[in-house]
Amino acid sequence: MKTLVIHPYLKNDHSGRRSPQARLDEGVRLTHAISLDVRMAQLVPLTLYRPATLIGQGKADELKIIIDQQEIGLVVVDGSLSPVQQRNLEKVWECKVIDRTALILEIFGARARTYEGKLQVELAALEYQKSRLVRSWTHLERQRGGFGFLGGPGESQIEIDRRLIRDRIARIKRELESVTRTRELHRKTRREVPYPIVALVGYTNAGKSTLFNRLTGAKVKAMDKLFATLDPTLRNVKLPSGLHIILSDTVGFISDLPHELVAAFRATLEEVVEADLLLHVRDASHPDTGAQKADVLGVLSGLIPEEKLSEYMVEVLNKIDQLPDGAPDTNVIAVSALTGAGIAHLLATLDARLSALFMTTLSLKLPAEEGEKLAWLYRHGSVISQEEEEGSLQIRVRLTHENAARWAKMARKH
Ligand code: GTP
Repeated sequence: MKTLVIHPYLKNDHSGRRSPQARLDEGVRLTHAISLDVRMAQLVPLTLYRPATLIGQGKADELKIIIDQQEIGLVVVDGSLSPVQQRNLEKVWECKVIDRTALILEIFGARARTYEGKLQVELAALEYQKSRLVRSWTHLERQRGGFGFLGGPGESQIEIDRRLIRDRIARIKRELESVTRTRELHRKTRREVPYPIVALVGYTNAGKSTLFNRLTGAKVKAMDKLFATLDPTLRNVKLPSGLHIILSDTVGFISDLPHELVAAFRATLEEVVEADLLLHVRDASHPDTGAQKADVLGVLSGLIPEEKLSEYMVEVLNKIDQLPDGAPDTNVIAVSALTGAGIAHLLATLDARLSALFMTTLSLKLPAEEGEKLAWLYRHGSVISQEEEEGSLQIRVRLTHENAARWAKMARKH
């Protein structure tokens, strides 16, 4: 569908941390993320927000000319519209109009992969819809295929009454409770595997999936689209010391996240809360990298106590290949997930942080003929040194606590 993206902002408001242009660019990327055909993007500077149409009549008429000329079928307003403003703009422009919340809901709807994720998004969409009943856009429509707001059977028929929505919300909530219980069980099983969990977090488009792929060698979707990763993806990675970790890719953070959607993040965020280490991936080449960092930290600090957060978060500056002066000369870890620069340093840092917590060093003496046990140690740990001494082997090896316990049990048996 031919789409126009606009970003309305107040001319005299200089409190914003982001430039309007960067916000518009983000709006365009968000719109691309659901494969809409963006024909044009415009900044709309305003002196004040108007209750009836948000933007002034003159500007609305001006845009109407573009909409007609370009045969625009959808206008995405990167901002918040009241139901009245939305309806009025649709009348003036004679096309569909959606705001940022609806756009993000659509993206999440299209990207949710797990059953739980889908339920969470549907719940969020219903809550949004309940507050603006009798909208042309409806998530229930999605079940018949396609995006709700792009049309579908006669709009006038899509008058879903409040009770229907309320019933559906209640049903989804019940279903979610049972799904969450099942997931708890799964998580317990996984927790018995004593691998440290490292979660990648970061602003959308920072390069988390690319880094995830780089670290795991996996071909997980990495594209220049937002939210390729609404549901957590888990992979096993072996660090240089032999320590296995579970790497978890999470959904990208975003500014002005609609509050209706916060619950939809729970699956991902719980993963983050449970992690042993957080890697905060930042796009060092983005002009708003500071504001993006503040956004991410703002969301995380609502979930994790601040002392803990600073203790277990490692910041990774990504996309250094895009910086004219190369890696910034600071203590932070600087990488390019794209070229692989700095990755060895990152892995070594992870190793140093996690080995101390999860590994133990043993000094052992093995009779030389115990080839099988020696092989076990090589398989399960990281042998630091091995010396022969009067027919026996003197070995220093790093093992996870769990493998050290297994070793002790094996040694007792003989
Ligand atoms: P979300 O799924 O939206 O949260 O994004 P993400 O953080 O997972 O980002 P993703 O890995 O999809 O990367 C976004 C874009 O940045 C892609 O076009 C990548 O190719 C690009 N990118 C990632 N890492 C680098 C890097 O080190 N250098 C450069 N130049 N581009 C990168």
